[in-house]
Amino acid sequence: MNSVYVSAEINYKVLIDVNWREFVNSLGVDHKKIIFVAPAFIAEVADLEQMCSSADRFLFVTPDGEAQKDFLVAQQLWNVLGEQEFGRTDAIVAIGGGATTDLGGFVAATWLRGIAWYAIPTTLAGMVDASVGGKTGINTPAGKNLVGSFYSPRTVCADTSWLTTLSDRDFSAGLAEVIKTGCISDLSILDLLDRVANVAGARTLTSELVTKSIAVKADVVSRDFKEGHLREILNFGHTLGHALEKQSNFSLRHGEAVAIGLHYAALLSESTLEFRQTDRILTLLAKFNLPTLVSPGEFEWSNIFGLMTGDKKSRDGRIRFVGLRELGKPDWIETASPELLEQTYEKIMR
Ligand code: GLY
Repeated sequence: MNSVYVSAEINYKVLIDVNWREFVNSLGVDHKKIIFVAPAFIAEVADLEQMCSSADRFLFVTPDGEAQKDFLVAQQLWNVLGEQEFGRTDAIVAIGGGATTDLGGFVAATWLRGIAWYAIPTTLAGMVDASVGGKTGINTPAGKNLVGSFYSPRTVCADTSWLTTLSDRDFSAGLAEVIKTGCISDLSILDLLDRVANVAGARTLTSELVTKSIAVKADVVSRDFKEGHLREILNFGHTLGHALEKQSNFSLRHGEAVAIGLHYAALLSESTLEFRQTDRILTLLAKFNLPTLVSPGEFEWSNIFGLMTGDKKSRDGRIRFVGLRELGKPDWIETASPELLEQTYEKIMR
């Protein structure tokens, strides 16, 4: 078992490789009523209905994937909290991928202006990114995560035994976030991944990769919780990634879109920051079967450009990117012209 500490508006721990059922059982000491928020397949695998057999345990089943980060789903959950008279000492436990912890955390942030919530991420991307750092939110037609709150969980329980249930495709999608973390801060993550041949090899390093990635995230979040500046480095690869994810109607996994976004941000860094290590990133992404290219005609550049202009890092209509001077040395790209952005997009076409 490892613990990583996060210092934000509250101080909390990320527990790694703690049994999630034992963790949930321990919550009864602090909270009378608990509602589990989970998509149907997690509720079934975890037999959450059985855990809700007592009068003060409740289950709210969400739709799968991004569909749960919707105002109407949040409203249904607020309604259940109202019907069950959830008070300030009660708690939400979100069990699922990043979409579930984003939704559960957002509803916790807004119910009675803030009740306790706990994150039990069940995906690799959820463990190393979404559940840690207190970014909670839902989507609107204009883009991802446009309505939300910085609101930390009381504890994150990252039980890596969940990851054995993930398909190789989903595990790889999580590896895109792990590779991102290595690129911006901890080269030892990239060194570890260099040593394995494929996804099965990476699975053998799960605890180490999760612990190292969470340590980077916790450090960045503790230094800049509200994303004044430094925290933006966690968005390396995400400016294009978010746009592709939305434009694909979420048929691309978040991590897959980020993988293409990492390639794009690396190429943009070559033009603007004299970055020279794109090949190392590409080799790692390819090893885990992550996409790095788009097909001609797959996405309209004007739509992608429009979505990137709406990115939260944009200032006065100017798209700002996180780039790299070298691996482990992120920097900001603030002055890339629309022409350069489009030319770089053409370089990532098959
Ligand atoms: N996923 C980026 C962040 O938490 O800031």
